[in-house]
Amino acid sequence: MKRNTKIDPSISNINEIINTLKENNRFYEIETGSERKYLIETYGCQMNEHDSEKLEGFLAQMGYIKTVSRENADLIIFNTCCVRENAELKVYGKLGALKHLKKKNEDLIIAVCGCMMQQEHVVKYIQKTYPHVDLIFGTHNLHNFPALLEKTLTNKEAIVDVWNQEGEIIEGLPVNRRYGIKSFVNIMYGCNNFCSYCIVPYTRGRERSREVSDVLTEIEDLVANGSKEVMLLGQNVNSYGKTLANNVDFADLLERAVKISGLERIRFMTSHPKDLSDKLVDTMAKHRKICNHMHLPLQAGSNKVLKEMNRKYTQEDYLEIVNKMKVKIPDIAITTDIIIGFPGETEEDFKETLAVAKAVEFDSAFTFLYSIREGTPAATKAGQVPEEEKKIRFQALKELIDETAYQNNQQYLNQEVSVLVEGNSKKNDHVLTGRTETSKTVNFKGDEKLIGEMVTVKITAAKTYSFDGVIV
Ligand code: 5AD
Ligand code: SF4
Repeated sequence: MKRNTKIDPSISNINEIINTLKENNRFYEIETGSERKYLIETYGCQMNEHDSEKLEGFLAQMGYIKTVSRENADLIIFNTCCVRENAELKVYGKLGALKHLKKKNEDLIIAVCGCMMQQEHVVKYIQKTYPHVDLIFGTHNLHNFPALLEKTLTNKEAIVDVWNQEGEIIEGLPVNRRYGIKSFVNIMYGCNNFCSYCIVPYTRGRERSREVSDVLTEIEDLVANGSKEVMLLGQNVNSYGKTLANNVDFADLLERAVKISGLERIRFMTSHPKDLSDKLVDTMAKHRKICNHMHLPLQAGSNKVLKEMNRKYTQEDYLEIVNKMKVKIPDIAITTDIIIGFPGETEEDFKETLAVAKAVEFDSAFTFLYSIREGTPAATKAGQVPEEEKKIRFQALKELIDETAYQNNQQYLNQEVSVLVEGNSKKNDHVLTGRTETSKTVNFKGDEKLIGEMVTVKITAAKTYSFDGVIV
């Protein structure tokens, strides 16, 4: 297997390559009567989801069509996540299972990309254990995917191309949007925070912001093509602008974005508490278009653990921000991420997490068992918490969050809320589903023609994580 073939053609070359592959696929269709098909499986966060949309954008331009069946696919891509070990193990299991498909169909191309590939030991392990993988690439050279695919198709040997460092931000790539109504927009890439448990700064590189004009142009295009809602993405949106020359911050970006006519809602994630400014809270309070929802990872409640995590705020700081938000934006929903069982977390420390969660009254929380990530400072810390203990704490936290979520939702009973209709409910064909401004799911009867519209719904039942309602 070849190691680190660095492929870096210019964008104009990329267009040529796309056209060549498109021609190839056209001939293939004429010869076989069927189009070439791809399947992408995505793991992890919205950032990865959005990267997969970019890969789909390329593939659509090359004339590939999407399939949900591995047996029918000519190209299978795993876009991986390495934030926790579980996600990695799943990918290994799936790669193993593809061996028999490759035996049946020699022309099948198997590619693996994303955060896992930014770790050298992972790439080596995949090369050794899964020789049926044809292409490995990382997060920093996603824009070169057409060239990488072409090389893979013409080479007998497998291709490995992982860049250790981020390059410049590449604008103007095609993106295949999964939903017309709601769209992801990257406003920045990478992270400089180096929380001691987290692998992201090593896999996504240093923080860099996109130019305001590039972000706004992308949103305008999306709105022109039917988007009503955008989700602005960054590992830490509150430090947006720090790498730009013209002294803008995230609140300034929002001020510009709310002016885009036809855009109904703006969401964003993720916010780091240490960088959340009063200016941002004021900007959110000022504009209806900016959704009253804040995803604000707490990670832990104990000041000792927060310090060890390198989070750079205390529980008092966190509670103060929450208080400020609740005063200025009374109907705000606050959600969070919490890690359970960080090395050295005692029963007492965990009780502080419970106490903070109770005081905040979260609307929901992603709760994670701490997972050792090789190469991060916390991985070698003494005092790793036994899995059994982590699970007991997890259960206690889950019960508390379920309770605050349920209680918060009761305030919505008989209220009228505005909902962006996203589609049919998964459970029932005649039921539509959408979200409130506070990002809560509402199910209600209605005509499919309403999909993509904003409607007013009266809440008739308030459950822990969703509502039932009727259109008014
Ligand atoms: N173990 C468990 N959870 C983690 N997260 C990040 N790194 C780890 C880890 N090593 C969680 C954090 C972060 C979310 C995206 O994933 O809570 O906010
Ligand atoms: Fe990881 Fe911390 Fe950066 Fe979030 S802010 S991506 S948890 S290092």
